[in-house]
Amino acid sequence: MSSNNIESVLIENRQFPPNDEFAKNARINAEKLAALHHHAETDYTGFWAQQANEMLDWHKPFSNVLDESNAPLYSWFNDGEINVSYNCIDRHLADKADKNAIIFEGEQGDTSFITYKDLHQRVSSFANALKAKGIKSGDRVVIYMPMTPEAVIAMQACARIGAIHSVVFGGFSADSLRDRINDAGAKMLITADGGQRGGKIVELKSAADKALAGGCPSIENVIVYQRTQHDIPMQAGRDSWWHDAVANQSDDCEPEWVNAEHPLFLLYTSGSTGKPKGIQHSSAGYLLGAAMTNSWVFDLKDDDVFWCTADVGWITGHTYVAYGPLAVGSTIVIYEGAPTVPDAGRFWKMIEDHKVTVFYTAPTAIRALMKLGDSYPNAYDLSSLRLLGTVGEPINPEAWIWYHKVIGKEKCPIVDTWWQTETGSNMIAPIPGVIATKPGSCTKALPGIIADVVDDDGNSITEANRGGYLVIRKPFPSMLRTIWGDDQRYKDTYYPKFDGRFYLAGDSARKDADGYFWIMGRIDDVLNVSGHRLGTMEIESALAAHELVAEAAVVGKPHEVKGESIFAYVVLKGERPAGGVDEELTKTLRNWVGEQIGAIAKPDEIRYSDNLPKTRSGKIMRRLLRTIANGEEITSDTSTLENESILDQLQGKA
Ligand code: PRX
Repeated sequence: MSSNNIESVLIENRQFPPNDEFAKNARINAEKLAALHHHAETDYTGFWAQQANEMLDWHKPFSNVLDESNAPLYSWFNDGEINVSYNCIDRHLADKADKNAIIFEGEQGDTSFITYKDLHQRVSSFANALKAKGIKSGDRVVIYMPMTPEAVIAMQACARIGAIHSVVFGGFSADSLRDRINDAGAKMLITADGGQRGGKIVELKSAADKALAGGCPSIENVIVYQRTQHDIPMQAGRDSWWHDAVANQSDDCEPEWVNAEHPLFLLYTSGSTGKPKGIQHSSAGYLLGAAMTNSWVFDLKDDDVFWCTADVGWITGHTYVAYGPLAVGSTIVIYEGAPTVPDAGRFWKMIEDHKVTVFYTAPTAIRALMKLGDSYPNAYDLSSLRLLGTVGEPINPEAWIWYHKVIGKEKCPIVDTWWQTETGSNMIAPIPGVIATKPGSCTKALPGIIADVVDDDGNSITEANRGGYLVIRKPFPSMLRTIWGDDQRYKDTYYPKFDGRFYLAGDSARKDADGYFWIMGRIDDVLNVSGHRLGTMEIESALAAHELVAEAAVVGKPHEVKGESIFAYVVLKGERPAGGVDEELTKTLRNWVGEQIGAIAKPDEIRYSDNLPKTRSGKIMRRLLRTIANGEEITSDTSTLENESILDQLQGKA
């Protein structure tokens, strides 16, 4: 796509400065922020070295800061040694041993509290259990768990012994799990008998069994956490229960000191082409970004209770649940269950019950809860809240204002945080005690993050509100290191333009007259459904893998709650259904995609046509398909269509 096609339509002028009370107590005030920016601008590596020394505890100090010799395969602090789990747990034991690290609530209302001391013991004994099963530094371990503290314990235990985890979201199907296990060459799978959501059991073990039965030759052992206690088969010699695995293990485990660049985890995410890619993160640089942003953007202080509602299956659940808040010694809330059980007041009740002070969620959740009415939040005491956050997709001003008024009672700053799986931590986000917010804008880049909007030639766009490519001009510590096993794909994906000078985020954006960033959308064929990234190609290949389907094209359609919904055009191998309608088949295909990828990827609508609109050179005319999906008038030139009569079919008129 050319930047000339990136048009900006939304202009929003309201501004909300932080209230005096918040600004007075915030970790970063205007003076400090200016000093941080000045330091980063005048001495980039000195700035990062200072942050790394202040925020992290090093086993062996580093002397190298940034190594660009193999650009764009950058490395940071690469002669230092560290352990992430030590930084998240052990270093707090001296003064926070009895402080809650985790407050957990299950959907049924079961609650538990885990102090830093408990967490240290549980992570250590599980780490010893992993070692007893032959897991060593550098081995890959896949985690496919419900949103319980054990998921965090499993991640921290891997980090403790230098094993590289790859968490697969529990909503992904057996096939998706198998692909990720095989791509990573994982030796172990950690799962559970099941999870709990919406009053039902999420069958994790049976999906895991199906994945393994499909062929995962690298897996040697499976550890199964007992959550639901329903009957599941255990395979002798391969599967063991979590409680048995830890039964005789010491609750002391010396952390494995690893190089700063040692991979901490892989997290698979969708791109515009091919299979999901294993985003590889480092240990020290990643943790630095996580610690810094939990401190600066979420302003976490000793008495805060931080609830980020993301599942650990996503990057947000890594950086703002499993690692970052613990790195700064905070208390986190974990909830396993749906936001509407027993009713739409669940989040607000939990905020009251656990006295949550900082709350971070996705615009899609805000929109869904907003639609259900103010009576739910109004029934609870939300006065503990002092800061709110959003992530994952642009927030529309209406939802922003509702969040501000009805949840934040007009006193909580809202941090709209732009970042990605690849960036590891917040990149563009307000420093809440300083930066006035504007509904829908993620405001300004954090100190040390040199973000910009550029044109096709890589020149900064200086004209206010003109759209272009969002780029980051300099490497930063928390950025991905590569795509697992595929350096070339890493280079081709993130440094394809501008002579490899800038990291290309894949988003379009504009800056307004005050220099605020406004994210406008993806520049590639990636959908953002309820804040989750899905490649159109992935869904198309899943559809095309069905025996009845010849070809498919998938586009996004704006959706009131989900941000985008999935609209699929399908060409069958046999006859097109009469009138283009076959509800049974549509159900079958939706379930099929659910099985191939996961329920989040099921198309919302499917339309059948005799063929797809293509240019003479055979390219699918996606822009036309988007126009049609949106029910808009067709203005593009359709004269090159090989078969103009299919337009009626695509529009659902024939
Ligand atoms: O398009 C941007 C959108 O989500 C993409 C990253 O998706 P993912 O890697 O799944 O990570 C989501 C959680 C960090 C981005 O390329 N996005 C993320 N945050 C925002 C956003 N769009 C607008 N505003 C945001 N605050």
